[in-house]
Amino acid sequence: MSAPSFDAVARVFAPDALGATVRLRGWVLRTRSSGGILFLVLRDRTGVVQVTGRRDALGDEVFTAAEHVQIEGAVSVEGTVAEDRRAPDGREVRASRIAVIDSGEPFPIFSGQTEEFLLDQRHLAIRSQENVAIFRVKAELLRAFREFLDREDVLEMTPPILSGNAAEGGAEAFQFDYFGRPGYLSQTAQLYLEALLFPSERVYGLTPSFRAEKSRTPRHLTEFLNLEIELAWCDLDGLIDFIERMMVAVLHAVAERRPKELKALGRPPEELLAIRAPFERVRYSEAIDRLSKLGFPVQFGSDLGTAEERALTLESTSPLFVTHYPRELKAFYMLRSPDDPRTVEATDLLGPEGYGEIVGASCRETDIDRLKERIGQIGAKTEEYEWYLDLRRHGNIPHAGFGLGVERVLRWMLRREHIRDTTPFPRTPSRHTP
Ligand code: 4AD
Ligand code: MG
Repeated sequence: MSAPSFDAVARVFAPDALGATVRLRGWVLRTRSSGGILFLVLRDRTGVVQVTGRRDALGDEVFTAAEHVQIEGAVSVEGTVAEDRRAPDGREVRASRIAVIDSGEPFPIFSGQTEEFLLDQRHLAIRSQENVAIFRVKAELLRAFREFLDREDVLEMTPPILSGNAAEGGAEAFQFDYFGRPGYLSQTAQLYLEALLFPSERVYGLTPSFRAEKSRTPRHLTEFLNLEIELAWCDLDGLIDFIERMMVAVLHAVAERRPKELKALGRPPEELLAIRAPFERVRYSEAIDRLSKLGFPVQFGSDLGTAEERALTLESTSPLFVTHYPRELKAFYMLRSPDDPRTVEATDLLGPEGYGEIVGASCRETDIDRLKERIGQIGAKTEEYEWYLDLRRHGNIPHAGFGLGVERVLRWMLRREHIRDTTPFPRTPSRHTP
């Protein structure tokens, strides 16, 4: 015997559904009863609908059982689609049958609870309409990235997460015991993507990166999703053009496909559609001039922190490329600028409205002696990077790449105060459960 088939809640709102019989199943947002009529609001993956049931039609036993279903209890319903001007979307389902699948225990989440409590209850809190909207936008964003990269003939790769190297230097890597030897969680897939570039020329990975930074800021997670791309035969201008095209394409795709969710989350989709290339580009040296005029004195060689990045973009609605950072501020593998030995061919893309860095990008150093020198300067051993140095010994070519923090992009797109809202189970220095 085949299982009975069910309709999606969205079916109730189809043009031809009035008067039709539907069978629904899902979770209860709320119930109430008065004068022998039960009102039950039901949710499934496609939407929310009001169900009404009369005691005389359902029978005492079923009516009482349905009345006592808790918030987030599960039920199935059979009934007729009817017009009802008082119902939220103008239609309701008049139930002829209700079956309780799980009556549920009292749901622990309600309005007015603290952020900490909600994080402890994250496994249940993720069912809220707001969270569902955020995760839909996130899924759409990932789809848009993959579609764009596919169109650009960039091949998806699956670099490892476990490694015997701390890719960018040891301080911020999570270390663990790998059968008696040190193992590390990936901080970046970049070095592996550089190796994978040689057979494929244009590659990307969409993998978690881990940072053991005790930064308790609204933009740091200890685990985040890193979209990393590596392109052969690419210089800084080519890299910037690529990032710009990608950002415009994905922002527009998400705005077109998820307008309802974006609006509900506080970002009118028109604002994303208004973002167009080219984005403004400033050199680091020019950025620090701007900053001193804004009351943030920065010496050449000092990093741009949260406050400085915020000041640079607070008034703008479009992202900003900052290029040519001093090389001491940046990773060992970045290419020294041909016209200025103090700087590297690198750029950070800063999100608008003060949100700060969302992409870190650079051309990669091809000179093996300079690479060795920089590895020494960061206090690492060249032996540990021998396999990486081999890439400069066999068909060494100019190449460039970048990493984009998926949750950083979402934080800006969705105007979230804290980055943790953009991921189902956020990991921060103070939390790795649930
Ligand atoms: O700038 P980052 O550290 O660059 C790299 O790891 C390069 N190896 C990437 C590459 O070229 N393949 O990290 C890349 C991006 C940042 O621009 C930021 O958006 C995000 O990752 N990111 C974080 N997001 C959330 N929490 C953190 N702690 C993050 N650290 C970096
Ligand atoms: Mg960076």
